[in-house]
Amino acid sequence: MKSLVALLVSLVSFAAGAWTNGALWYDTNGHVVNAHGGGVLTHKGRFYLYGEHKIYSGRGNRAHAGVHMYSSTDLETWRDEGLVLQVEDKPGSDIEDGCILERPKIVHCVKTGKFVMFFHLELKGRGYNAARTGIAVADKVTGPYAFQRSLRPNAGKWPVEIPEKERNEATLRKFYEAERPWGGKAQIWGAHFNGGQMSRDMTVYVDRDAKAYHVFASENNSTLHVCELTDDYLDYTGRWTRIAALDWTEAPAICFKNGWYYLIGSGCTGWRPNAARSYRAKSIMGPWERLGNPAKGVNPKTKYGQEITWGGQSNYILELADGRALALFDLWNPKNQIDARLVWLPIDFAADNTISITWRDEYSLKGASASSGKR
Ligand code: GAL
Repeated sequence: MKSLVALLVSLVSFAAGAWTNGALWYDTNGHVVNAHGGGVLTHKGRFYLYGEHKIYSGRGNRAHAGVHMYSSTDLETWRDEGLVLQVEDKPGSDIEDGCILERPKIVHCVKTGKFVMFFHLELKGRGYNAARTGIAVADKVTGPYAFQRSLRPNAGKWPVEIPEKERNEATLRKFYEAERPWGGKAQIWGAHFNGGQMSRDMTVYVDRDAKAYHVFASENNSTLHVCELTDDYLDYTGRWTRIAALDWTEAPAICFKNGWYYLIGSGCTGWRPNAARSYRAKSIMGPWERLGNPAKGVNPKTKYGQEITWGGQSNYILELADGRALALFDLWNPKNQIDARLVWLPIDFAADNTISITWRDEYSLKGASASSGKR
């Protein structure tokens, strides 16, 4: 009975033109929207929401289905577009059922016409040790996305900030290990120079000049890497830089506003929520400046406040054609990930070029249209 009432309440609030943060969201078939850690692509008059399809219980922490997509013209009414990338049954496949496939991001390459999906991939049975990037491609936004390959990026490539004359073994040695704030040591980029850099939590950002960047937590999650992609978005140019070095930032999401790039992210506590953080930069390749926790306010239902990002973790920033930006968060539920919830809140851009994001129980994006989508 209680859940029937909750369903009716959420349907009524949808009809009223608002979504309820932290509530179950339903598609037009009446099924719960199942897309986590993903993002929203704007294409030809529609919004495409996609993310990890989660299943019941702790098994939902592994990928058993793939990437699920929904589409909408108003960001409120979601049509099921199905599983656009599916895990494979074939033993030994990189994306075998039971692997970890997280934080997919889809971008449209105008030059080739293809849709390219990047994701964080952990090979089946190896926990979080593989730390790889997966790449899949489709001809249509709704897929099917064909898995191409997985890799650790930038093997043998130097970060741009290391001058030519210092590109030697002694420099690599200086960047072999760093202290973990909670004790012990972690290998950093010098140790992975030959084999390729670790890549976990991630986003892909397409800039105004159509250049795309893969931004991921590397070096055992201690440091973010910003890596330029080739014009077809299928490979790396080898131009990369370290940002937020040893800040232990995960869950990166990026937007651009009034001459500044902004990055929001989380600390490094796995599925447990922590305080969000933000950065800004004049160039996506840096330098990035630390700005602090953009989250404000408390979710009155759970009493979770800004010190734990209302129980959530950032996953994407949707830049709307009218200049607004929505920050997308997941409220994880590692014991039953199918019950993870979504939180979408507008970013407030202040006159001093800082950002804040204030908790709202509901939000309505009246007038948002995908027809003049940013890209
Ligand atoms: C989080 C990360 C998630 C997932 C999780 C596993 O910090 O953002 O995507 O990898 O750790 O514990």
